[in-house]
Amino acid sequence: MKQFSFFGKTVIVGIGVALIVALCMSGAAGSARAETKLMVVSDLHYLELSLYQGSDLFLRALRRGDGKITQYGEELLSALYRQILAERPDALIVTGDLSFNGEKKSHAALAAWMKTVEDAGVPVWVIPGNHDINVGQPIGYGNGLYYGVEAATPEDFAAIYADFLEPGEAGFSYLAKVSDRLWVAMTDVSWYQEQAQTFGVFTARHADWLEGALKTARAEGVQVVTASHHSLLAHTEFSRDSFLMFGSESMAALARQYGVRLNLSGHLHIQHIVREEGLADAALGAFCMWPHRYAIVTLSSEGALTYDAKALSERFLPEGFLETSREWFAGIASEKVKATLTGTEEEIEMMADYAARFNLAYFSGTYRREDAAWTDDPAYALWERQKDSAFWTYMKLVMNEAAGDNLHLDEADAR
Ligand SMILES: [Fe+2]
Repeated sequence: MKQFSFFGKTVIVGIGVALIVALCMSGAAGSARAETKLMVVSDLHYLELSLYQGSDLFLRALRRGDGKITQYGEELLSALYRQILAERPDALIVTGDLSFNGEKKSHAALAAWMKTVEDAGVPVWVIPGNHDINVGQPIGYGNGLYYGVEAATPEDFAAIYADFLEPGEAGFSYLAKVSDRLWVAMTDVSWYQEQAQTFGVFTARHADWLEGALKTARAEGVQVVTASHHSLLAHTEFSRDSFLMFGSESMAALARQYGVRLNLSGHLHIQHIVREEGLADAALGAFCMWPHRYAIVTLSSEGALTYDAKALSERFLPEGFLETSREWFAGIASEKVKATLTGTEEEIEMMADYAARFNLAYFSGTYRREDAAWTDDPAYALWERQKDSAFWTYMKLVMNEAAGDNLHLDEADAR
């Protein structure tokens, strides 16, 4: 086996023919490609098949969840692989929450899938999220019973994803040198030293590492995009405390100082973009939930940076899958609110249906507050009588958010 460096990343290829194919397909290894193209996914929450296959208990657990359709994890990965081949990006960036809840077995299976992506010529780069390392007690799902499974430690994570990250200086923070014009500062702010916590922290160590990386990039004339699991900018009123990383002001200040215009994040599970003083934080909708978002980031030959959120194509999925997935997500939201509402059976049905549609639109990044159909809807008048409902509070916060395009970012936005 021959080992060689591939834009800072170690790639091992057995034979010369495979090497030539890989270099030609990636377009990132010195060919005269005008633009650099990244593909981004986040929050896969993949659970290895044997840990839930045939378990009704698992389906019941998911129905009490937030809309993940993890029982179709294999179909989703297969479709994503085909989508990657169709997009032909220079790299795939994964911004954390790779596994369902930190199972070592899920990480191993996912890394094997990533190997197939790299074998097809697309380098893969990962950082962990809050559901990936030192999770208290991951579980498997049997017939009528749960059982404990092995949790991945930081050492496990490093070994399993060795081909998909660089040795880190602050956690698993490193520079993904995607091309000679664009690097991604993969910034691991998740907190899992003792036991995984929901929050993320940008520490002094992160600041030292990031400033050094940004200085190097500036000296070499390379544009940097940062990536983190947690939000760099506050997205929503209801999510500020648990989703915005601690120390975000320091990271944002460094980013602005060195001309970073875009941070790629996940964690929210909502497709949502915030623009603030020349810096944008694009939270990518969770891949494990309808409509199965991924994003394309391009740096044009002129240096223009664009971001486009897309959805997994129907043609790569089993027939009717997207409708099934939409109904699954809608059904979960609808059942959750029904229990909290008062009114006639018909009124409750109308409000629950409205809540499900609202939630789907918001999570997928397509909700538009200026669309009068939301307030003209007869169910909205019914909802106005449910002022004590937590869901009403959530809807009002969303409706009062600043209007903005949550799917696209162009050069004008990013400056
Ligand atoms: Fe997540």
